[in-house]
Amino acid sequence: MRSDSKVAGRLAPALVLAAALLSAAGVRTARTQGERPAYLDPARPLEARVEDLLSRMTVEEKVALVHADNRFSTAAAPRLQIPQRQLSDGPHGVREETVGRDVSQAVGRTDDFATFMPALVGLAATWNTGLAGAYGATLGEEARRRGKQIMLAPGMNIMRTPLNGRNFEYLGEDPFLVSRMVVPYIRGEQAQEVASCAKHFVANDQEFERNTINVEMDERALREIYLPPFRAAVEEAGVLTVMSAYNKFRGTYCSESDYLLNKILKDEWGFKGLVVSDWNAVHSTRGSVLGGLDLEMGTVGKPFDEFYLARPFLEGVRKGEFPMSVLDDKARRNLRAMFATRAFDGHATPGSINTKEHQSVARRVAEESFVLLKNDSDALPLNTEKLTSVAVIGENAVRLQAYGGGSARIKAFYEVAPLEGILRRVGERVNVTYSAGYGEKSGADAAERAVRAARQADVVVYVGGLNHTLGLDSEGADRKDLKLPYAQDELLVRIVEANPRTIVVLLGGGPVEMGPWLSRAPAVLYAWYPGMEGGNALARVLFGDASPSGKLPFTFPARLEDSPAHALGAYPGKGGTVRYAEGLLVGYRWFDAKKLAPLFPFGHGLSYTHFEYSNLRLVEGKDAKGPTLAVTFDLTNAGDREAAEVAQVYVGDLKSSLPRPSKELKGFAKIFLKPGERNTVTIALSRDAFAFYDPARPGWVAERGDFRVTVGASSRDAKLEGNFTLAQTTVGK
Ligand code: GLC
Repeated sequence: MRSDSKVAGRLAPALVLAAALLSAAGVRTARTQGERPAYLDPARPLEARVEDLLSRMTVEEKVALVHADNRFSTAAAPRLQIPQRQLSDGPHGVREETVGRDVSQAVGRTDDFATFMPALVGLAATWNTGLAGAYGATLGEEARRRGKQIMLAPGMNIMRTPLNGRNFEYLGEDPFLVSRMVVPYIRGEQAQEVASCAKHFVANDQEFERNTINVEMDERALREIYLPPFRAAVEEAGVLTVMSAYNKFRGTYCSESDYLLNKILKDEWGFKGLVVSDWNAVHSTRGSVLGGLDLEMGTVGKPFDEFYLARPFLEGVRKGEFPMSVLDDKARRNLRAMFATRAFDGHATPGSINTKEHQSVARRVAEESFVLLKNDSDALPLNTEKLTSVAVIGENAVRLQAYGGGSARIKAFYEVAPLEGILRRVGERVNVTYSAGYGEKSGADAAERAVRAARQADVVVYVGGLNHTLGLDSEGADRKDLKLPYAQDELLVRIVEANPRTIVVLLGGGPVEMGPWLSRAPAVLYAWYPGMEGGNALARVLFGDASPSGKLPFTFPARLEDSPAHALGAYPGKGGTVRYAEGLLVGYRWFDAKKLAPLFPFGHGLSYTHFEYSNLRLVEGKDAKGPTLAVTFDLTNAGDREAAEVAQVYVGDLKSSLPRPSKELKGFAKIFLKPGERNTVTIALSRDAFAFYDPARPGWVAERGDFRVTVGASSRDAKLEGNFTLAQTTVGK
């Protein structure tokens, strides 16, 4: 609007009249001459800005906030200076730009490369909450630079089956570990003025029939296993968005579940942000409007203004089928997330991409994620002084992983594959050869050539495992079994026979069964999908620049049938329903209850040094919630290498009125120690660490009686144990 005095003089009476008419219609103009509306004033409290803007919006403008106007965006409302919102995947970096209404089609731009971080399952394996914060901050900085307001991650579904194709995108089997890692990730990312998204709420724990499967589970499993990471994301990290899952929960689509979205998420937990649907996961207007959905994305086969939360919703409001208060609540939630990410104010700084710091975070996460499963006679680290030749074998030594896996794919600036990392680190001093050995592109004689190369070298570094092929570690399908694909077991038997000094490095997002080669391979390292710096990080660990410090975030079963969901035939469900028959006994909880020996236990991971635990003290205290317990012990690096230990605290309720797992992870600390260094470690447990959920109350009951407190290097490697008695029962929320 022109503001010179001549024009203003003539226009003023008309403006006043127009403003009067508009305000009578319940609509205030965004700007009368000279006055800045409250919602545009960043100094105003957020809620006041939300209310001021809401009061100025038409019904149409409110409805435009709650559905997409393209595959990854929502419409602007220029009249009120409401900007278009951009949403983006994913968990491991900012996804490339795509077009397409119903399918994300890459457009091959040259300005949307991103830092490719290690997979979230690898982040979990670091057990390093500080790194999780740096991880989230890196993603947030890059998302801000790319103009994204909502990042659609972290995924935090629980690994109840080792076959889930998306296990690589999640953080393992234990709700406590998942919670402790997603909170700093979300805080780190949202501190960059970008909203995180806790997904997929809830129980999208398999890809099989994910769009329609109905998940049935008992209330304690829901409360004690599947909800805690989402609750932590809301209550501790203040996550601004939650993504409702594709599947049904107890017969209702998650995107329409009043119990999940309204009762638990919004009423019980006080969630004030917005619930966004998964893409093409909305099935009705009434169900999603009243069920608590706040933003519809990705609905296939409908024009955007025909989405369930578009015109049909608008008409429903106009006809009085839906009260305006329901629309206002949805609009508020969207506006809150927009104000919280400075959508109206602009960012103080533009963000950054692929900086040295981002690369360093990627490398540190990779390095600390590697889990040394086995290391007989200190086969690792390799000493280049004593090596003249290394045969690198396996397709995963050269295969690039970034651009795979489904919506988590990344167009990476670069990706240092294992072979490249090894060559960079030792290629000038050691004769490094490469042979594929197996893989989609290797020839018929690939195995022969690999075995010959193995025989001729001092040492073999085998890099195999899984990849992001559909049916392995990828969205859209689950794995069929735990076997290594491409006949790797047979190849490995021949390789370790040809050269007993074979270091096995496996990439992947979940457990694999290990064949007869395991007993003959002196060292096995699990390296996840280690991101763009993965090869450099791997070389640093293989050649001893750094000690591995990762610990398994899930159980490696010796056989698939040992896993609870499979032992009970509770996967993948039948007739469109999957029943979580194992209840609370997910992962190590099951192996403990059935006294089953895993191949490698939850929390397991070796080091290049060894640690001594001593001097356990259990000191009772009190806080506002009730009794507390300080678990204090000494940890010593008794070896000759600097390294880090993840000391874990498990709590077992020796006598409880409801059945409980024999022990559960309730605390951990990652401690870096120089050779000979001793630290006194204290891990604080609140009353929550002793509580179980009692649906009859309902509430969390920390029951009077005796508890066993175990400090361990894994769930099966107890170092210190003590007993603790709760003098009285307390019940909490
Ligand atoms: C996908 C995924 C979800 C992703 C979304 C957008 O189907 O389930 O995790 O964020 O669609 O790509």
